[in-house]
Amino acid sequence: MLSGKKILIGVTGSIAAYKTAYLIRELIKLEAEVKVVMTKASSDFISPLTLSTLSKNPVAIDFVKDEETGEWENHVELGLWADLFVIAPASANSLSKLVSGNADNLLIATYLSAKCPVFIAPAMDLDMFKHFSTKENLEKLVAKGVHIIEPTSGELASGLEGKGRMEEPQVIAQKIHEFFMKDSVLRGKKVLITGGPTYEAIDPVRFVGNHSSGKTGVLLADECAKRGAEVILITGPTNKKVKDPNITVVRVHSAEDMMREVEKVWAAQDIGIFSAAVSDYRPEVAAGEKIKKTDDSLTIKLVKNPDILMWAGQHKKSGQYLVGFALETENEEVNGFKKLEKKNLDLLVLNSLRDEGAGFGHDTNKVSFLKKGNNIQSFELKEKTEVMRDIVNEIEADLKSA
Ligand code: CTP
Repeated sequence: MLSGKKILIGVTGSIAAYKTAYLIRELIKLEAEVKVVMTKASSDFISPLTLSTLSKNPVAIDFVKDEETGEWENHVELGLWADLFVIAPASANSLSKLVSGNADNLLIATYLSAKCPVFIAPAMDLDMFKHFSTKENLEKLVAKGVHIIEPTSGELASGLEGKGRMEEPQVIAQKIHEFFMKDSVLRGKKVLITGGPTYEAIDPVRFVGNHSSGKTGVLLADECAKRGAEVILITGPTNKKVKDPNITVVRVHSAEDMMREVEKVWAAQDIGIFSAAVSDYRPEVAAGEKIKKTDDSLTIKLVKNPDILMWAGQHKKSGQYLVGFALETENEEVNGFKKLEKKNLDLLVLNSLRDEGAGFGHDTNKVSFLKKGNNIQSFELKEKTEVMRDIVNEIEADLKSA
């Protein structure tokens, strides 16, 4: 996934410009934020309205936005906004201008201002692609660190057959995705996540449980998998769906089941994120048959469940990174720091119940990050998906600086 990534697409005058519409869709599907800068020539092949509708952003074409007011399109800002600039299709003429720095249109001026990685997907007739001047231009761009996405062979707009067709949008999007994944600290890392509630059997049909939906565990697993991690999600009962093939889901019911599964895998993990709402107590005895309502009252003795996170903290090896959650209702920070130490955590995510919109049953949450050395970072109320992104960003930043 490319969530949080800003991708600028440059479109130049080539029949392949129609494929840019599909490229935008592919990138949006990967959750990237997309803006488009076009040359005037490219607007003969695809309309700016199509591209602005698909990208959900106005398209930039002219240096001057409004003749009357003199408002101008800020190519410097656009160049700096982008995390990656992909020029697709790139015509032979544009390649030459990119090399010479001939900024006679907004796209080339933006390229000259961009500080981000640049990808170029050429599209032209086979003889133009074979020509020594095109070859030299491409070599010069490669020498300056520009990434070239080679055109493919096939039938060309001229009716001739050969190399010059712009690579398919899906492949271009995939290459961009792989490029960002290479950068991720989580790529190839093993991450164990616990999530959901636990159900502690009273009898075959009744249990002691809580309102956790399991959403947090699934969102965390998605976020880590998106960044290239190999994830094991051990979750209590939830109806939340997991789609990413890099997530192995282990479904459990009780805290003791969850404990057993965690014990099997924790030693081999790089990171543990324990978000499960584990029942602290379970019935001492689970009745073998359904309990009948024969008496006026019923007493069920509860005994303590294992603290799974505490066990992981006690067995944490050097290099392993452990994250826990806490929901405190009083003396939040003091209790949070105690928990951080007691459970041997690297990061404690403190949930607040005091703020409106935070906690159980909301799509938003308000958290603080607590780390050793009385280090505290508080966030505003955010969508849960964004909170998960903040958590994973924090883990990545800590691993990078370790
Ligand atoms: N946790 C766990 N196993 C348990 C209880 C909690 O793994 N049996 C983990 C949760 O997944 C979460 C953190 O510990 O990451 C939450 O701890 P919390 O329930 O807030 O506090 P407790 O340690 O249970 O202490 P107390 O209820 O006394 O505040």
